[in-house]
Amino acid sequence: MNLLDTARIDPATLAQSFPADFLWGVATSAAQIEGAAFEDGKGASIWDHFCRQPGRINDGSNIDVACDHYHRFREDVELMRGLGLDCYRFSFAWPRVQPLGQGAWNEAGFAFYDRLVDTLLKAGLQPHATLYHWDLPQALDDSIGGWMSRDIVGHFADYAAEIARRFGDRLASIATHNEPWCTATLGYETGQFAPGRTSRAESLQVAHHLMLSHGEAVAAMRAVTKARLGIVLNHTPSFPATPAEAERRAARIDDGLNVRWYMDPIFRGAYPADALEFVGADAPQVEVGDFERIRQPLDFLGINFYTRSLFDADGKAVKGPGKRGFTDMGWEIVPEVFAQHLVRLAREYNPPPMFITENGMANADRIVDGRVPDAERIAYLSSHLQALAAAMSLGADVRGYFYWSLLDNFEWNSGYDKRFGLVHVDYATQQRLLKDSAHWYGDLVARHRTRR
Ligand code: FCB
Repeated sequence: MNLLDTARIDPATLAQSFPADFLWGVATSAAQIEGAAFEDGKGASIWDHFCRQPGRINDGSNIDVACDHYHRFREDVELMRGLGLDCYRFSFAWPRVQPLGQGAWNEAGFAFYDRLVDTLLKAGLQPHATLYHWDLPQALDDSIGGWMSRDIVGHFADYAAEIARRFGDRLASIATHNEPWCTATLGYETGQFAPGRTSRAESLQVAHHLMLSHGEAVAAMRAVTKARLGIVLNHTPSFPATPAEAERRAARIDDGLNVRWYMDPIFRGAYPADALEFVGADAPQVEVGDFERIRQPLDFLGINFYTRSLFDADGKAVKGPGKRGFTDMGWEIVPEVFAQHLVRLAREYNPPPMFITENGMANADRIVDGRVPDAERIAYLSSHLQALAAAMSLGADVRGYFYWSLLDNFEWNSGYDKRFGLVHVDYATQQRLLKDSAHWYGDLVARHRTRR
């Protein structure tokens, strides 16, 4: 039996499983699509810099042009309108609007986001913004050591307030950070992401500054906007490879470092005790009052879900059995974990309304006779949406879903090799082509609309 076929549910049935006001969208981020890396006064980001270091990016590429969205955003908005989507999640590039990360603003940078937001609104698409999707101004890294310095908290709050002041009345939501775990762990502990540092102590201090900057940014934005404010966390639920006690403990610690390290300060006002004990002397320096500043009331919680992790007794990640297969990233496809995890969050944290701010797969897509037959992505989508509906029926309050991503784009240290888009991008010509999954998603949205 072909598992892909059994995972594929017809859009009409699936559409019935979601409440009438459920929102459908797609997500992107600035560094991965915009290009125009040094145009109209934009400052360099740590990713512009990182891409220029030999060996950092698997295919040796950079983001100077990416999907050229800076110049082609009208065409890209038109694609979303054509699919009938409700909303679009994008990020502001901090160095585009404040090249040094402090001090002078770049009006030409703001003008780009004015054009984008106004074009979205005209097309009937709600703009959902993220302030930090990893493209720190390089100048801040050079001058103060970026996220390693506590001084960055004030700079980030100033940037957040300025965005809220200028755009707040036009944005449906503003998230402070995208996936602080990735910023801290991949950027400062494993070194896979910019700025490529490799110290657990630094990474945990960075994570603390990210959390503080989140709280301070929310407080600063509240003063100037009524837009819904929140944060986007990536959750990769942790499991033991076998039921052995040592493996269960390794999974529990990873859960503490990945899920609870970020959820607990925000919703409970403390770091998780077991993970804190595990990191020992690498624990971050926390000042009196920090948790009160971090624990701001939020209007929404964004969850990004892709896969799970399995651990052996030494705490090393091992490959899962992949009963439903693996994506082109090598990530195990586990929609049932998605459902289970959302229910857990609802029960353990009683969070504000949630949005699935990212979910999707990289696939080795090919154009065949003018089409991209990505049945694997349709199966991924339909099985995860089915899981989402199940979680919602069990009490998870989820208001919308953003597929990652609208376009094939720059997948960080993997370069352009990994294709996550509903829309295929030919990087030589910048030609966009809707994949079969885009048509499937548009069909689902259209059928859901009949419920409204
Ligand atoms: C997430 C990132 C996003 C994209 C997807 C595949 O971790 O937020 O930018 O790279 O993974």
